[in-house]
Amino acid sequence: MNCTYRLANKVELADQSSPYRPEQPWFLPPHRRIETIYEAIADGVTCEGGRMILITGGAGYIGAHVALQWLGNGEDVVILDNLCNSQRAAIERISTLAGKRPEFIQGDVRNRRLLDNLLRDYPIDAVVHCAGLKAVGESVREPLRYFDTNVGGSLTLCQAMAQAGVFHLVFSSSATVYGDCATLPINENCATGQPTNPYGMSKLMSENIMKSVASSDPRWSIGLLRYFNPIGAHPSGLLGEAPTSTPNNLLPYLLEVASGQRAQLSVFGNDYPTPDGTGIRDYLHVVDLALGHVCALGALRDRHGVSIWNLGTGRGYSVLEVVSAFEQVTGIKIPLRIEARRPGDIARCWADPQKALEELGWQASRSLHSMLADAWRWQCNQLGQVDVRQAN
Ligand code: NAD
Ligand code: UFG
Repeated sequence: MNCTYRLANKVELADQSSPYRPEQPWFLPPHRRIETIYEAIADGVTCEGGRMILITGGAGYIGAHVALQWLGNGEDVVILDNLCNSQRAAIERISTLAGKRPEFIQGDVRNRRLLDNLLRDYPIDAVVHCAGLKAVGESVREPLRYFDTNVGGSLTLCQAMAQAGVFHLVFSSSATVYGDCATLPINENCATGQPTNPYGMSKLMSENIMKSVASSDPRWSIGLLRYFNPIGAHPSGLLGEAPTSTPNNLLPYLLEVASGQRAQLSVFGNDYPTPDGTGIRDYLHVVDLALGHVCALGALRDRHGVSIWNLGTGRGYSVLEVVSAFEQVTGIKIPLRIEARRPGDIARCWADPQKALEELGWQASRSLHSMLADAWRWQCNQLGQVDVRQAN
């Protein structure tokens, strides 16, 4: 089966790095924007039919955007998710946006029998494994649950895939496997560090399992996608991150402050060796990230063994730069409080995304302003509050 793909983000949605202006094309009503996206993807990616892609964790933040990419391209998708950190409503949103329903199975990726049945009953020929737990602090308090879900889930999935003869796998890994990398930007040859928490260790352990599995049988083709900091939402404002408890990450917390659910944003440290003293990260748009999965799976069709790709923009922003850009995009002032450094945080982290560009033709192209505007649109839609168009 051939999968041809081209850099879909060449047909950009009039993304721009200039300040937010309502007259700009990306401000078009959501439905026009969605059509534009699908035109771009349908034009950019064509796959021969008769097969399905299994997306574990496909009701979650990243998995849902990945599912949407494939469905929007006319592909058939099966989503397996136990909904421990997502809601069935996400499946409805994906269906509405794609104009096509994914098959949805509510279940656990550690359930071997369920996986065996699923791989027998659907013509699945590739898996994107997003299911997992991701809260760093929680992983410190409940390490066994994290190893069980993240490592156990990867192990069970690989076992079931091998038995079913399905050998194409894309894995949601993380830049956290690099630890505190001494050189920047971080490329794929940088040594994997010593993750400072069980979450990071569970990702590194899963990667190592997959490397061993791939070495044992040449039929495997596995892509380890090391995400940097995905943020943003679908530009329609209909799909995005929906934390079920207090957010740990910068952007979801900032959105809750902006919408009045929380009083202020804590800035964890302003004494880092960075220009403004706050931590620098490589934020990338979740839609760009989702496109990276399509490109990666396309490339895996012609590869064997393990391939590793950083998915990031190659550019870092500090916490204060993100806050300032958000204020510019929305016109909302964010109350801040400088606090002590968060344990386990590093000062600076951004990707060298060159390998993904050379080998996948993938490049993140959406600007920080787009990420923030789209995230805010999603937040407003969810809360039915401020109209983002009036926010400036
Ligand atoms: P998410 O919590 O929104 O999505 C994960 C999904 O997996 C959820 O829908 C959850 O219900 C499901 N899930 C969890 N355990 C499961 C199990 N045992 N069986 C079946 N389903 C299960 O998180 P996300 O941000 O979409 O992250 C997706 C993947 O990407 C995760 O593996 C995460 O570790 C990884 N990742 C995320 C980030 C980030 O910043 N969001 C960064 C790097 C890597
Ligand atoms: N930060 C704050 N206040 C907050 C939250 C975060 O100042 O309320 C700061 C952090 O100190 C850091 C930056 O914002 O400097 C980004 O923090 P996030 O928690 O948003 O992201 P991390 O870089 O710590 O980690 C995220 C994911 C991990 C993933 C990693 C990959 O949480 O799962 O990106 O780079 F592995």
